[in-house]
Amino acid sequence: MTTLEIKDLHAEVATPDGDTVKILNGVNLTVKSGETHAIMGPNGSGKSTLSYAIAGHPKYTVTSGSITLDGENVLEMSVDERARAGLFLAMQYPVEVPGVSMSNFLRTAATAVRGEAPKLRHWVKEVKESMNELDIDAAFADRSVNEGFSGGEKKRHEILQLGLLKPKIAILDETDSGLDVDALRIVSEGVNRYRERENGGVLLITHYTRILRYIQPQFVHVFVSGRIVAEGGPELAEELDANGYVKFTQSAPTPSASPTAVPHPAGAGA
Ligand SMILES: Nc1ncnc2c1ncn2[C@@H]1O[C@H](COP(=O)(O)OP(=O)(O)OP(=O)(O)O)[C@@H](O)[C@H]1O
Ligand SMILES: [Mg+2]
Repeated sequence: MTTLEIKDLHAEVATPDGDTVKILNGVNLTVKSGETHAIMGPNGSGKSTLSYAIAGHPKYTVTSGSITLDGENVLEMSVDERARAGLFLAMQYPVEVPGVSMSNFLRTAATAVRGEAPKLRHWVKEVKESMNELDIDAAFADRSVNEGFSGGEKKRHEILQLGLLKPKIAILDETDSGLDVDALRIVSEGVNRYRERENGGVLLITHYTRILRYIQPQFVHVFVSGRIVAEGGPELAEELDANGYVKFTQSAPTPSASPTAVPHPAGAGA
């Protein structure tokens, strides 16, 4: 059982002209093995910033608060240490890495995370099976990481990494955006397989309820102005879909004052 615990997290970003902008304003969130949490919130509210702060993006500085993984201080870890500790981020905009083949990248990443190189024969089979499951053509293995991939192809490859790297906690930042209906189902099935096989904890950032019909969250959090302002179950996502964020952006209630806020049930699992 793994627990990612974020307490009163404040973070800022350095702008190109040397200023800093405060973006996270006291995020409290706990994600445990087997749990699925959805974060929904308006554009620019800081959802990706939260995912970067957890993953350790150098542009984002945590000014106060804490992030721990099973009690270990994540903020003291380098980005690769965070990955080895079991954290995984599927980025909203996956980066292209020209000159590094997908197969080379995946094996290098798996070697780093697992602590030893996977045996080649097993590895080839594992990758092939994972690519089949995600309906990814074998030709992608020889292409440079994400280079020239369509938006949906990039998202599919993020889930390929998820299945092969087997993290303890996965943060998926808008993995559903840009997917066609078939790809949405295939990608969702990949996430559900990961959750079942690894008993992984999932933090799913999304704008749309349609992915939540495939990947069912036990917890839905409303993210406004750099913090969680309301929490609930799947019904909260339906409410947001119908009514938008106006109620939350106008009053910006605190979690305890929100009519939809519910206490986090300690130890709840899938
Ligand atoms: N390097 C930067 N310089 C200036 N502002 C930044 C920088 N990075 C992020 N921001 C600002 O921080 C705010 C939060 O951005 P973030 O990407 O976290 O939002 P988001 O909730 O993920 O939005 P979306 O739903 O559109 O993906 C935005 O207003 C954004 O412009
Ligand atoms: Mg974002």
